Amino acid sequence: MAESTQMVGSIIPYHVGIIMDGNGRWAKAQGKGRLHGHQQGAEVAREVVRWAKELGIKQISLYAFSTENWARPSLEVRGLMSLLALMLPRSLPDMQQNGVRFRVLGDIKPLPGRARRAVEKACAETASNSTIELILCLNYGGQQEILASVKEAAQWLLKQADQHKALALLTTDKLRSMMWRADTAPLDLLIRTGGEKRISNFHLWDAAYAELYFTDVLWPVFCKADLQRAIDEYGRRERRFGLTSEQLNE
Ligand code: IPE
Ligand code: IPE
Ligand code: MG
Repeated sequence: MAESTQMVGSIIPYHVGIIMDGNGRWAKAQGKGRLHGHQQGAEVAREVVRWAKELGIKQISLYAFSTENWARPSLEVRGLMSLLALMLPRSLPDMQQNGVRFRVLGDIKPLPGRARRAVEKACAETASNSTIELILCLNYGGQQEILASVKEAAQWLLKQADQHKALALLTTDKLRSMMWRADTAPLDLLIRTGGEKRISNFHLWDAAYAELYFTDVLWPVFCKADLQRAIDEYGRRERRFGLTSEQLNE
């Protein structure tokens, strides 16, 4: 499994996840509607992938739409879906140029056709890129992801001749292999913009040992220096994974 990359003078996390929050509040402060905030946020999402690539990050997960976000006013939901259908094709040349492999995490079946097709096209056309992976979390929920893997594990178990023996083989690694993103690395750094200090159903399983970084900066004005600050802070953390500091220094 991939590990964080050690660079001269800094430690670069391998997989960074971002809860891109604060679009609505930013727009309100500008005297504009929420969709204006989402439009500006989408521009930053496009840029952050390039910054991440320049820093040497290999995987970046962006939380774009949660399973709970369907409950927002229908005008906002429709606006977000249209924005996705508009922005993804526009971002394709950038992605190709930067070697971005676009992937999606979440159930895209309920997305409107135009948005779903844009997602599928971006996945297909960038499949052979390998500089950085962009994992767009769309209609994504960490609990739903875990539940889906538990259901798959139950199906697997039912097919086994000796179910008691099989149950003993159901380890955390086995369950993870049944999750939607079995081939992405665990999160090293989880950034949330917008000032809230919660996970909001993002990457529940894979954030088990992520370093958490919260900033008050609203997503539409998040800049490269803000990302750098998060990376610098990550570099100062001691990741102990349950061990003692002394054990790590041995
Ligand atoms: C995050 O910004 C984007 C989505 C959830 C789609 P918000 O829309 O949640 O912005 P705030 O939190 O209301 O400011
Ligand atoms: C989390 O932000 C979801 C995304 C950024 C897509 P929310 O704004 O939906 O989260 P809560 O409601 O503040 O927890
Ligand atoms: Mg929010």
